[in-house]
Amino acid sequence: MQKITEVKSRLIYDSRGSKTIELDVITDNKYMGRVSVPSGASIGRNEAINFPNGEPEKCLKLLNNNINKFLGLDPADLKCIHNTIRNVDKTDNYSNIGGAVAFAITIASMESASRFFGVPLFKLLTDESKLEFPIPLGNILGGGLHAGNGTPDIQEILVCPHGAKSIREAIEINFKVHNELRNILQKRNINFTGGKSDEGGWAPEIGNEEALEASCQACESSGYKLGKDISLGIDIAASTQWDQKSEKYRYKNNKRFNQEEQIKFVSDLINRYKLTYVEDAVHQDAFGAMSELTNEFPNVLIAGDDLTVTNTMFLEKAINLKSCNATILKVNQAGSLYDALKFAKHAKKHNIKIITSHRSGETIDSQIVHIGICTGSKMLKIGVVGGERISKINELIRISEYDLIHGMTQL
Ligand code: PGA
Ligand code: ZN
Repeated sequence: MQKITEVKSRLIYDSRGSKTIELDVITDNKYMGRVSVPSGASIGRNEAINFPNGEPEKCLKLLNNNINKFLGLDPADLKCIHNTIRNVDKTDNYSNIGGAVAFAITIASMESASRFFGVPLFKLLTDESKLEFPIPLGNILGGGLHAGNGTPDIQEILVCPHGAKSIREAIEINFKVHNELRNILQKRNINFTGGKSDEGGWAPEIGNEEALEASCQACESSGYKLGKDISLGIDIAASTQWDQKSEKYRYKNNKRFNQEEQIKFVSDLINRYKLTYVEDAVHQDAFGAMSELTNEFPNVLIAGDDLTVTNTMFLEKAINLKSCNATILKVNQAGSLYDALKFAKHAKKHNIKIITSHRSGETIDSQIVHIGICTGSKMLKIGVVGGERISKINELIRISEYDLIHGMTQL
């Protein structure tokens, strides 16, 4: 049987220049899986703790003290790797060793196994024979915690190229609209410098609705018909606007919305801009308010991110309350890959559409693309341009060379 013969780790840096960890798992002295860990800026309160007390060094130290427990294990036995890390950290949210370590060791083991067997990672992670490409969402405009002062409150405006016939066409549509939006923003404001948000979308000084109008214009002047070839989606990341004390969402220009006004605000945006995707429309505890939107818009993907935090328990609550019809999957919200795949299985069983997502602080790793495919995700959030985003987009292109995947998924 193939065995893990070495585990090495080091401190490296992510796309924001923040410290993160990288971990190598080596099987039979030869087959290496290497994984580094992303991190979020708008982090859900119930996520696994990536680095307890913000100290990646301590996580590495703890891992190194326990490294022998992983040597000799079968790298392809995800449950065993997961249980081993669970024996070291028995907390619910990995607040001892850090979700980052659980993330890195589980994915690196599977990658190492995929090298040993000579199969792509996505293939090793699923028995499903009918695999399709998720639709890559292009982040064309950023605001909120992903961009500077003066940018929209809405964290992300995304292009969904749902009419594309191939993965390459989908990717090229995203680039085209992203590019066109730059021209439009430049024409609107001579002072726009081409500054970008953390995920590669433009970061102009502009209001929420103006940003959506410019985005619609960019779709149409790129030659696409909104609602036919492509559509727009948004991630409001509403927990970042929610003020628990006053129980209001705080927006620019001193606007304040209560829960009811927030639902109206989002509903108007959906209708006005024909949105097909809305993520975290309300704050992370507002399961009831989310269900109002899900009920009102059955044909729009109403997705939980901070609401469901890739945690089966919160997903179960959302299912019971009919809070969403879609959910974000971010492996490091869950901690280990085993946890995340269990979450995906539960979502699928209840017909909750999955959107596998990067984080705003990323590295050049691309395993999440494989995870998006093996979980049958409807969409993939992997940004638009920039090294740490393009590495994932290019991995999609490489994967399209396999005959194992049959076309694009339909929304
Ligand atoms: P984060 O945000 O990676 O900064 O947490 C991404 C998102 O909210 O989808
Ligand atoms: Zn989000």
